[in-house]
Amino acid sequence: MRKKFFIYGFLLFLIVVAIYHYTGRGYLLVFIIPILLIIGAYNASQKKHAILRNFPVLGYFRYLFEMIAPEIQQYFIERSTDGKPFSRNQRSLVYQRAKNIDSSTPFGTQQNLNTETYEGIKHSIFPAKVNEELPRVLVGGKDCRQPYLASLFNVSAMSFGSLSENAVRAINIGAKKGGFYQNTGEGGLTDYHLEGGGDITWQIGTGYFGCRDAEGNFSPEKFSEKANLPNVKMIEIKLSQGAKPGHGGVLPAAKNTEQIAKIRGVIPHTMILSPPGHTSFSDTKGLIQFIKQLRELSNGKPIGFKLCIGNTAEFEAICHEMIAEDTYPDFITIDGAEGGTGAAPLEFADGVGMPFEPALIFVNKTLIGLNIRDKIRIIGSGKIISGYSILHAIALGADMCNSARGFMFSLGCIQALRCHNNECPTGVATQNKMLMKGLVVTDKSDRVYHFHKNTLHAANELLAAAGKTSFSDVDINIFMRGDEFTNLSELYFPDNLKNVTKRN
Ligand SMILES: Cc1cc2nc3c(=O)[nH]c(=O)nc-3n(C[C@H](O)[C@H](O)[C@H](O)COP(=O)(O)O)c2cc1C
Repeated sequence: MRKKFFIYGFLLFLIVVAIYHYTGRGYLLVFIIPILLIIGAYNASQKKHAILRNFPVLGYFRYLFEMIAPEIQQYFIERSTDGKPFSRNQRSLVYQRAKNIDSSTPFGTQQNLNTETYEGIKHSIFPAKVNEELPRVLVGGKDCRQPYLASLFNVSAMSFGSLSENAVRAINIGAKKGGFYQNTGEGGLTDYHLEGGGDITWQIGTGYFGCRDAEGNFSPEKFSEKANLPNVKMIEIKLSQGAKPGHGGVLPAAKNTEQIAKIRGVIPHTMILSPPGHTSFSDTKGLIQFIKQLRELSNGKPIGFKLCIGNTAEFEAICHEMIAEDTYPDFITIDGAEGGTGAAPLEFADGVGMPFEPALIFVNKTLIGLNIRDKIRIIGSGKIISGYSILHAIALGADMCNSARGFMFSLGCIQALRCHNNECPTGVATQNKMLMKGLVVTDKSDRVYHFHKNTLHAANELLAAAGKTSFSDVDINIFMRGDEFTNLSELYFPDNLKNVTKRN
């Protein structure tokens, strides 16, 4: 109601401005200025809408279109989302779940169910009861001394630097409330990751931010100090990420503030390019030794690595080295080439690395084929933002899923594509203090919590519709695809592995 009142107030203001413009009657300013001030003051102080908080008057154009001319708004959105990673419908779903409002859809599907390409779940005539408890997965192999019972759905790596401090804090508080983890990203573990008390997966990238010596090399002492903090539940070595595999992390100069430079131990206001490869190891043997070293230094916390698949023979060689050394990572995170980033060179974003689906199938099959699948958890990331995409990833071989951009949407991201130039209008991916204030931590942490909860609940509902009671019973055969509605296993699995699920 109040929103409507102010929208009509704003309309009135526009009319008054138009009259003034065409008649030149200066006394109309007596009306214009107070209206403008009241609207501005109200919007700057409200806590729900980041855009209106940051742009108290101009931000109305977005809501005006939404209210009085949805078709026009739709036209512009479709044009503006054309070619962007996520469609309007995908984002709306996240917004609704984050706001904890009804996310059902009217009238039927808006997808074109072309039978040649259609893919769907084979529901059961005898559905199971929907589990009200959200699924969890134990991570930790034989050498792990502090296994972690993780949520099946968590926040993917995003650094403080790439995200604002308010975004990091809101995610952490949401994670604490919902019992899931926040991955720090390669920018280091900061106070903002710790103050909310949420579980943390600490990511170690090639820049070793937070655990580097004066020369930028890995420092065992500094690592050990932070790795043993109680909030740190798992440690992830970043080999590569889908949006820029083979390229190191990029922190644009505009986002490298004094504060971030201090945390990372670099020169402020310069572009920070992390090296493409690690200096602590340069081959498969070295990687396995590094896993062993981190495990010792962290007193047996789960250690894993993240990569986007490129040269498949290299991944196979790593697996053979694990077997030879009898040392396994507790988890492997597979990121698809469609993955997101704060900043990446276009050539790397568009043309390097394997997409999520074939990469996941390859990794799952390789571990099964070598008989080591039961020793390692697979975490999948690549546009996973709904219950359906979670179930799909589990069916293709993942044990757990991460989402980065899904959680950004839950914080209010509108996909403005300004993460790289410090001008994010919603305060999610910027270091500009003025813009950051639009993101109110208490409000957005609730949205993070609800997005996680409602999305996993939707996954539980789909699981029950497929007649299953546990995610560990899900395999590729619950999906069908193509004009003959073939089992996905027919399409993907060679005969000898056809009936093998991921846990053999
Ligand atoms: C703003 C932003 C920052 C990111 N920073 C990192 C990072 O520091 N380390 C990393 O491994 N991946 C990083 N990623 C990649 C994500 O963790 C994730 O792997 C990828 O975006 C795929 O997930 P999504 O499709 O749910 O976004 C970042 C992604 C985004 C959008």
